[in-house]
Amino acid sequence: MYRDNPLKKISWQDFQRLTPKEKGPYFLREQRSYHVLTSQQFNRPMLERICDLATKIRLIGKTKGGIHFLQSLLSEKRAMLYFVQPSTRTFLSFYAACQILGIEPAEVRGTNTSSEVKGESPEDTVRTFSSYFDMIIIRHPVGGFAERIAWLLSNSNRPVPVVNAGSGKDQHPTQALLDIYTLQRSFENRGGIEGKKIAFVGDLARGRTVRSLATLLMLYPGVKQYFVAPKELQIEEDIVSAFEKSGTEFEICNEFERIIPEVDAIYMTRIQDEWDTAHESRLIDTSRYHFTAKHLKILKPDAVLLHPLPRRKEIAAEVDSDPRAVYWRQVRNGMWVRSALILTIFDRGGEIDRYHEDLIS
Ligand code: NCD
Repeated sequence: MYRDNPLKKISWQDFQRLTPKEKGPYFLREQRSYHVLTSQQFNRPMLERICDLATKIRLIGKTKGGIHFLQSLLSEKRAMLYFVQPSTRTFLSFYAACQILGIEPAEVRGTNTSSEVKGESPEDTVRTFSSYFDMIIIRHPVGGFAERIAWLLSNSNRPVPVVNAGSGKDQHPTQALLDIYTLQRSFENRGGIEGKKIAFVGDLARGRTVRSLATLLMLYPGVKQYFVAPKELQIEEDIVSAFEKSGTEFEICNEFERIIPEVDAIYMTRIQDEWDTAHESRLIDTSRYHFTAKHLKILKPDAVLLHPLPRRKEIAAEVDSDPRAVYWRQVRNGMWVRSALILTIFDRGGEIDRYHEDLIS
């Protein structure tokens, strides 16, 4: 089906030396995402296409006939969900996306239940999955692990697509895709994402969702990004230098209440204290970075509040009922976007276009 296999043409050593941007083309086949590993591999037409497919899948899924059609699309495929870090939404939305498309999902949710307990290397474990499944979706604490697996499998006699469902502190590209879809839908009657002011709040140093979404937002002209956090948790230098290189407007600050009335979207995040080495984040006062009911009064009437979830105290539960709180819609969007992404990987989007065309004509 796919004749070109770019990851077969480069050694692991040479591949590792590339920048995230330079790696991007190695994850594509015939201009489409085959492996989904980083935010940097996407361009604007790819994002538009995934959002368009997600919307069509959502509409098709409203009727029984449509649901059956969707379930027939990839019923010959099987997927492995290899999640060795905690997950609720990402795991379940990938699981649900597989069910929507008729894919049979299987799961390994910890190294304690696989042969890794017997001393098998994680690489061998994942290679075993590729013997049985047609796609591997990976959440792993080690940054770059999914990339390593994609390279290994591409150089084996059974290459299958690898999807990064969260790696270390660095990347969470599929979360960023659903965040883009949520923003696009939120601003669809206001000229789209272009030109909007978007603030990230919380643990920006270790929040992989922030890093991945900030990278995708660079593709939208006129967007200004605000990074609002105590200095210990501020956005990392690599993102700042990518902004500077691309001429993306941004502001780094620590005054949350000042920026609330200025922005069109606020992306709240949790303190990622699982990465603490000595409970150091307990020493940081993060209470100033919580969104409470009183902040609703100063938030623009048409602004939106997002959160990748899980949340702790960053957003008070009373805020949930405000129409500007879109994080539960964001959760549901994950299922449509991940369905769209899987269809793209297997090059079956055209069937969605044709079904949708008939539906609306
Ligand atoms: C995020 C993650 O795992 O990075 N969760 C998610 O996938 N929705 C954010 C987090 O854990 O704080």
